[in-house]
Amino acid sequence: SSNSPIDTNCMTLTRFVLAEQRRIPGASGDLSQLLNSLQSAVKAVSSAVRRAGIANLYGIAGQVNVQGEEVKKLDVLANELFVNLLRSSFTTCLLVSEEDETVIEVETEKQGKYIVCFDPLDGSSNIDCLVSIGSIFSIFKKTTEGVPSVQDALQPGRKCVAAGYSLYGSATMMVLSTGNGVNGFLLDPAIGEFVLTDPDMKVKPRGKIYSINEGYTNNWDKAIQEYVASKKEGPKPYGARYVGSMVADVHRTLKYGGIFMYPATTDAPRGKLRLLYESIPMAFIMEQAGGAATTGSISILDIQPEKIHERCPVILGSKDDVQDVLDIIKRHA
Ligand code: AHM
Ligand code: MG
Repeated sequence: SSNSPIDTNCMTLTRFVLAEQRRIPGASGDLSQLLNSLQSAVKAVSSAVRRAGIANLYGIAGQVNVQGEEVKKLDVLANELFVNLLRSSFTTCLLVSEEDETVIEVETEKQGKYIVCFDPLDGSSNIDCLVSIGSIFSIFKKTTEGVPSVQDALQPGRKCVAAGYSLYGSATMMVLSTGNGVNGFLLDPAIGEFVLTDPDMKVKPRGKIYSINEGYTNNWDKAIQEYVASKKEGPKPYGARYVGSMVADVHRTLKYGGIFMYPATTDAPRGKLRLLYESIPMAFIMEQAGGAATTGSISILDIQPEKIHERCPVILGSKDDVQDVLDIIKRHA
């Protein structure tokens, strides 16, 4: 009731996922189980990011913790959590992690039908200075019979079964889509649960913020240079925001509208961001929220991946803002 401080009927992420599953006749519950394991990994990463158990994470004055063990770096710890929890969920057969050069094949007796691609802790340059970081994931179904191979992980984003991210910001939030809109869940530390706070998230058709690493201006194509310059002109210039953590920059774009870009540069002709576990999940979320995501020449979700760690240029956010960039690119072609 309204005067009670505790919501006695709160929509947790676990409950939400279960309810979604129950609406699909014949669903096995494997995806729900997978998402629960992923949720556990995210909670543990969040706790580590917030430096719970400082002595264990840091060692009091060095690289060795109270048990005399070498202290693990946060990104290594996050990767171990993701790998161990997903592998033991009995729902996955292949894992692709930004931290591992090759695909991880789950032991046969624990195999399930899903393939998960993830960046366990993105925004590495922001870890040590305590600026927001995040985890990103995309989930696919294995479509072939037999032993899983790298080929099974090379699916275009259109085949994504679910995708999302968690943001370790001023609070911890998990944003998820199973292809039926986008929902956001804040971690309530009082009960240790993700609670639905942002149902059916939509990105505005146009925003007032652009987000790009402007230090690289001279290395961009003419079209990107012209677009960014145009955002500073006129009586109502756009604001500039760039955290340098993709999850934070994309989440802001989702909430406030605007555009986020990591285009090709002369040094990095395919940009920096990784297709399978950075670009695809964020493109999936943006499209599900009514926004757009493109490389400048093709929708990110239509790219046929060729390598697990390949990169692609990223332009995503409010539909009209993304269209403005595409129009300028067309003029320069
Ligand atoms: P990382 O995987 O080494 O953390 O790099 C990915 C990050 C993204 O989160 C962010 O959008 C981008 O790198 C920022 O790169 P830059 O410093 O070149 O602007
Ligand atoms: Mg990364």
